[in-house]
Amino acid sequence: MLSASAAETVRATLPAVGKAIDEVARVFYRTMFTDHPKLLDGLFNRGNQATGEQRAALAGSVVTFARVLVERPGERPDALLGRIAHKHVSVGVRKDQYPLVQHYLFQALRQVLGPAVTPAVAEAWAEVYWLMAHSLIAVEERLYARSGADRYGQWRPWRVEQRVTETPGTVSFWLAPADETPVPGFRPGQYVSVAVDLPDGTRQLRQYSLSGASPEGRRRITVRRVTGDAATPAGEVSELLHREVRAGDILQLSAPAGDIALDEGGAPVLLASAGIGITPMAGMLAHLAAARSRRRVIAVHADRSETDHVLREEQARLIAGLPEAELHLWYEECAAGGTALPGRCDLSRLELPPGLVAYLCGPVPFLKSAREDLLRAGVAPRDVHYEVFGPDLGLA
Ligand SMILES: Cc1cc2nc3c(=O)[nH]c(=O)nc-3n(C[C@H](O)[C@H](O)[C@H](O)COP(=O)(O)OP(=O)(O)OC[C@H]3O[C@@H](n4cnc5c(N)ncnc54)[C@H](O)[C@@H]3O)c2cc1C
Ligand code: HEM
Repeated sequence: MLSASAAETVRATLPAVGKAIDEVARVFYRTMFTDHPKLLDGLFNRGNQATGEQRAALAGSVVTFARVLVERPGERPDALLGRIAHKHVSVGVRKDQYPLVQHYLFQALRQVLGPAVTPAVAEAWAEVYWLMAHSLIAVEERLYARSGADRYGQWRPWRVEQRVTETPGTVSFWLAPADETPVPGFRPGQYVSVAVDLPDGTRQLRQYSLSGASPEGRRRITVRRVTGDAATPAGEVSELLHREVRAGDILQLSAPAGDIALDEGGAPVLLASAGIGITPMAGMLAHLAAARSRRRVIAVHADRSETDHVLREEQARLIAGLPEAELHLWYEECAAGGTALPGRCDLSRLELPPGLVAYLCGPVPFLKSAREDLLRAGVAPRDVHYEVFGPDLGLA
């Protein structure tokens, strides 16, 4: 909890800090990367820096955390902390890096807000920062210990055993451990970070959901190629994975991470995805099928067309093998006579059973509309889980 005097100062300055935080985050990253360019080589994602998404996620998370501290001091925003901590352990953030971030964040706060940042204000916000940092560090240490990263290191070599073209723009890589170190398990829905060395000599990390696993311990990731257009460059890592990685190559993977994972209960479950968001759902579905689950499963997928629908046949086969499962498809370009409905996904058309637990993954507009449909249908907010393929701007 914040001290009483810090709580009062934070409450009084929250509107001003909230208004300035995006600019603070911009200055923070700019100055930190100018002084420590190596942080963009093997840790931070320069795509997320270019789009500004990481800046917005950081800013939103700090302000939300401070707001909870002063408005609902008995509460701990576990979902927010869990989301960040899982991302941190997937890239290898360590506790001795927190003072560095504090230094540049507070330097930026002073630069943007000027004399309004009195010593008392700086001290009060330092309390916020360290409460948040210590909460994150505690979760991260538990996750590192559990995954074996403490003993075996952050990165482990996995050999590409098979490369499968799923659609014209998507490939899967089946991976097997390339050394003898024990492999940490994973929960269906989780992701790994993949570290690749780019042609300019820089290392970049990206997250990929585990879209499947074999009983012999192989794991699969499925990667959509991010093609550029006149306004935006092609994706650096997905492009390289598509262009260069073949069977026999070695990829460096983190231990699995991610707070969105299929619960082991027996409640009816909705697995709703759009586009490449099918990957964590495919992992969950494969798990349910392997366990011969008798759970009621409602799978929903939305895509541009049948041709774009990644893992389409596999999804249909797994659903057909589960006794209580059904599949609903929406394609924007819909062929006549098919089983899919035309247009965008509309969950309000489905009959949803009581006690439903929902997992969603796809572009943000899909997530928003699916969540709204579910809440309107009476699904409890705590039972709607979502994965987003980038910094989570919903954290704020
Ligand atoms: C938890 C999680 C799970 C994920 N699972 C999957 C998965 O299963 N499959 C999958 O395919 N992806 C997945 N992703 C997304 C994946 O991690 C990458 O973000 C994706 O592959 C794009 O990476 P990239 O290096 O190719 O693109 P980047 O180079 O990072 O570019 C990303 C976007 O930013 C734009 N951009 C970059 N630089 C600029 C600039 N200077 N100006 C304007 N725009 C710019 C690019 O055009 C592109 O649209 C997941 C992400 C997360 C967080
Ligand atoms: C209290 C301090 C911190 C806060 C509030 C914070 C907040 C965040 C948030 C909100 C995200 C995005 C999570 C998501 O993907 O949705 C994130 C990701 C990340 N953070 Fe932190 N963080 C903190 C400390 C640190 C430290 C000390 C480092 C290491 C120098 C660090 C490095 C990273 C990296 C590398 C990512 C992934 C970035 C990307 O892939 O774009 N963070 N952090």
